[in-house]
Amino acid sequence: MAQYDVREQYLDFFASKAHKVYDSMPLVPDDASLLFTNAGMVQFKDIFTGKIPTPTPPRATSSQLCIRAGGKHNDLENVGYTARHHTLFEMLGNFSFGDYFKKEAIAYAWAFVTQVLGFSKDVLYVTIHESDDEAYELWCEHIEPSRIKRMGDKDNFWQMGDSGPCGPCSEIYVDQGAEFFHSSEDYFGGEGDRFLEIWNLVFMQYEQKDGVRTPLPKPSIDTGMGLERVVALKEGKINNFDTSLFAPLMKVIEKLTGKRYYHDDEMRDKHDWAQAELDSIMHIQASFRVIADHARSVAFLLAQGVNFDKEGRGYVLRRILRRAVRHGYLLGLKKPFLCEVVEVVCESMGGHYSYLQERKAAIKEQCKAEEERFFETIESGMALFSAELENLTGDSTKETTQLFSGEVAFKLYDTYGFPLDLTQDMLRENHISVDMRSFERCMNEQKSRSKASWKGSGDTLKEGDFNVLLSTFGQNKFVGYDKMSESCKIQALLDTHFRIVDTLEPNSQGWVMLNATPFYPESGGPVGDKGALYSTNRILESAQAQKFAQVLDTQKFFGLNLSKIETLSALKTGQEVVAEVDCARFEIIKHHSATHLLHLALRTILGSHIAQAGSLVQSHRLRFDFSHPKALSGDEIARIESFVNEQILQANRQLCENMDIQAAKQKGAMALFGEKYGDIVRVVSFGDSIELCGGIHVSNTAEIGSFYIIKESGVSSGVRRIEAVCGAAAYHYGKNALNEIAHAKELLKAQDVAQGIIKLKNQLIEAKERASKAKQSVKSLDYEEINGVRLIVLKLDSVDANEAKEMVDRSKNENESVAILLLSESENKINIIAGVKNAPLKAGAWVREVAQILGGNGGGRDDFATAGGKDISKINEALDIAKGVAREILHKEIKR
Ligand code: ALA
Repeated sequence: MAQYDVREQYLDFFASKAHKVYDSMPLVPDDASLLFTNAGMVQFKDIFTGKIPTPTPPRATSSQLCIRAGGKHNDLENVGYTARHHTLFEMLGNFSFGDYFKKEAIAYAWAFVTQVLGFSKDVLYVTIHESDDEAYELWCEHIEPSRIKRMGDKDNFWQMGDSGPCGPCSEIYVDQGAEFFHSSEDYFGGEGDRFLEIWNLVFMQYEQKDGVRTPLPKPSIDTGMGLERVVALKEGKINNFDTSLFAPLMKVIEKLTGKRYYHDDEMRDKHDWAQAELDSIMHIQASFRVIADHARSVAFLLAQGVNFDKEGRGYVLRRILRRAVRHGYLLGLKKPFLCEVVEVVCESMGGHYSYLQERKAAIKEQCKAEEERFFETIESGMALFSAELENLTGDSTKETTQLFSGEVAFKLYDTYGFPLDLTQDMLRENHISVDMRSFERCMNEQKSRSKASWKGSGDTLKEGDFNVLLSTFGQNKFVGYDKMSESCKIQALLDTHFRIVDTLEPNSQGWVMLNATPFYPESGGPVGDKGALYSTNRILESAQAQKFAQVLDTQKFFGLNLSKIETLSALKTGQEVVAEVDCARFEIIKHHSATHLLHLALRTILGSHIAQAGSLVQSHRLRFDFSHPKALSGDEIARIESFVNEQILQANRQLCENMDIQAAKQKGAMALFGEKYGDIVRVVSFGDSIELCGGIHVSNTAEIGSFYIIKESGVSSGVRRIEAVCGAAAYHYGKNALNEIAHAKELLKAQDVAQGIIKLKNQLIEAKERASKAKQSVKSLDYEEINGVRLIVLKLDSVDANEAKEMVDRSKNENESVAILLLSESENKINIIAGVKNAPLKAGAWVREVAQILGGNGGGRDDFATAGGKDISKINEALDIAKGVAREILHKEIKR
């Protein structure tokens, strides 16, 4: 049987029972209370709780990718050590939204298991909730009563998370046979592995909120069957990792490590092996399984746009990668290897999940960059870990249960990047746990890091009357692709809690639903439109029109296009208004179209591995995140910028077509994962740029004007960010740059900034030289000694007045008795500076005499004086006079 036939058989079976087949929804749900999509029902939770209307048909089926690595359903630490836990798996499910209930759900499941999968009645067992007599009766129609077991809440009550739909459940088990299972727990209902649960039928009856359970509007059905488990049973394997689903991954790990992977059934024949050998093989098996499992999660999460991060979902992804890397390290791998396994995941699963194939190169690069980062610290971290472990296990005097130091676990976490669960995983085989009290103390002390654990913010959880709006009016139409205003009717008004109200009072806030709205809601990058609501005469007599409300933002909720408003006067449901979009829209769409061109530029210049990882489009800038392993060079940035500007100048017209997704792919449209495309998609093209996009764009690239990249930076390993401006923002950016240049010219007093800077630089070099000369000890200056007084009279070159003053001061500091007079020339002026210490000369009179020769004047104190002169031709004469005057006095009147 081909690997994935089970998936097809399942979906076909339920499609034949009038179920609509849904695609797997993204792993990151639109629900902040959930870490990841952890069950098939997550896609339908708002239908179960009645928040949105029941679709037609009221039955669904899907094969949903799920991640259980954190939050309420967390299997991370079991992966590798059990036969059937995974961080990522596929859940086959059928759902009834208030349509069929227990009877049909049980009958369908029984038919599928016995007729399609072909399991004999003799290997099947079921469990039910202990209180569920109805399910018991229904099962008795199919199976021997002795094969039905009643269980408590722990086993047979299912909840999505701490909040959400829930209900009692019934599980189907397959007996894998006594042959291989010999534990005393291997009885039906025991803890052993012999009886394998394959399918959970949840009878959705309640919604849990804030610890309280309320009945759902209509009892519903949610079921989940693990694809990997069923494939294992069909292939006669007692371990999911030994199936054909994982075979290509095990093969590449064997190649990378040079070690052999043994299937569980091969191990059974090895009775003659020594225990130590068996133990070592089992450790290798566990590491292979961890790597194979985690490579799948890493591949899918990266492909779906989750990036490695310090907190939240990205941190879970980092933990998964690091756990896998540590197991590779145990197998002797000392450099990035997981990226190779991830590549094989993309190839082996890329048939059904084509985005894996499309993003293979980028995913591999991102994984490699993150691995490299961890490999930098793993060696030292492992050494620290081993030393601490040695400390503990080496001390045989301690008899009580041992605890691994919380401080060391924290250091491993904080300095070496070992997530706590990785340390716990490493301790598992020694049956030692971490001293959590001290670990948590350290963690609390380092507040900023404490964000690392996931706490759903609840921000995106929207409660409100959406169902009423959808059932009464359906989704309202967006009419603003080529219009900036529309005469329309207020279909509904909502308060800030999304409760329907008849009127909104003046100066209050709330939301408006217009029957046909020109306001574009925020989605996939571009921010929502702002604007205003006016009286109906706005169209004809704009000046007389009354403004009723300011539109602050526009968002989409369950397909409803709602605008947030602040009223100026009262608004009533049913009222006719003119809705007018703020002209900021023009700038938003320029940045939106420029984002498409930038995407094309990146793929053309950097390579086709570029995949969008995030986008923000505002009226004054755009921000684009994309997968790329290293920082962009200046040359690459310049080429990307110029490529986009060329596209703008080509004045490419916008071409917008609706076509089916296959045709769009053939056309070469760049699809973004996570957008929910219907069968028919909207394709927006500008020349070679072809993207699936529901947004608004310029009609011709020339409207964008010009484009500047203002910043390039890293977001996380393997993800880069470009910030850029175009349109009016580009003009302002250019204008600011020009203003700065003008200012610089002014400061430089130069017409040419570059020349001015060169001149300034030369002056700086000269000044530095002078300063260093001035710093030389004045002891090196020429002098004569008269009656114990050092006399210095000099003309200095390249020394300005300040430097000369400094030299005079220094000379006085360094000498017991000194008389110093320096001449320096600057800007056609001669500076005369004199200082006297312990000598009969008077500095003031001395400089005055010299100044007179030079056609200037000046004076000062007896110990320090300055003067200026103009007549440069008399410098030598001045020096002679200075010396003569000093010598005469010093020779004559020495009084020390
Ligand atoms: N939602 C149910 C589960 O995950 C079917 O087990």
